[in-house]
Amino acid sequence: MSTMNPGAYVIRSIRADEWPAAKELRLAALQDPVAALAFLETHEEALVRPDSFWQERAAGACEGADGAQQIIAEGPDGSWVGTLTVLVEEPGVTDWAGFPVERKQGHVVAVFVRPEERGSGLTDVLFDAGLEWAWSRGAERVRLIVHEENGRAQRFYRRVGFVPSGVVVPLAARPGETELEFVLERP
Ligand SMILES: CC(C)(COP(=O)(O)OP(=O)(O)OC[C@H]1O[C@@H](n2cnc3c(N)ncnc32)[C@H](O)[C@@H]1OP(=O)(O)O)[C@@H](O)C(=O)NCCC(=O)NCCS
Repeated sequence: MSTMNPGAYVIRSIRADEWPAAKELRLAALQDPVAALAFLETHEEALVRPDSFWQERAAGACEGADGAQQIIAEGPDGSWVGTLTVLVEEPGVTDWAGFPVERKQGHVVAVFVRPEERGSGLTDVLFDAGLEWAWSRGAERVRLIVHEENGRAQRFYRRVGFVPSGVVVPLAARPGETELEFVLERP
């Protein structure tokens, strides 16, 4: 998938051989001031992962992959300014939080747009592409998990149609903190 939006960014799935760029953007995301709210992984943890980790992650979510898709926004100079990844979850499995997955669904993770591009509409275009991919895979709904204190992300998700499902996920690694599940039903 590849489309040009008015801001001259190309929105597309990554290729497997682009793992160095995917790694660079992920490391930038993990250094964001809100990284502790936005991501479960730390910059220190990611920094010591071997190349094979980034290679496998990119191969599993590249153009043509079945179970996941990493979609990026690429500037005219080739720089990557935003990303999200959609995972496909099959009914019958138990998710990482111990909840059963009842319907085939997409799960949006690793949402990050560089600070200078926020508020420009670019995140909307990334979501359009991610949702389109999830529906094309037969997802009946798409969900994501957001920290209770990540106000900007929550406001964005509500604006594009996600609503809280009522599922609250305690953060095992950080007692006292919780995350909220937001869902969007297939139109
Ligand atoms: C989350 C993220 C992808 C959203 O993209 P964005 O381009 O910033 O989103 P937008 O600016 O289009 O929408 C955010 C909304 O929150 C509002 N907002 C801005 N700062 C806010 C704050 N501190 N608290 C609450 N709302 C805020 C904006 O005004 C906007 O509202 P509006 O649509 O009514 O005008 C981006 O901010 C980001 O990468 N954040 C860091 C990583 C992150 O948190 N990822 C999500 C993990 S679940």
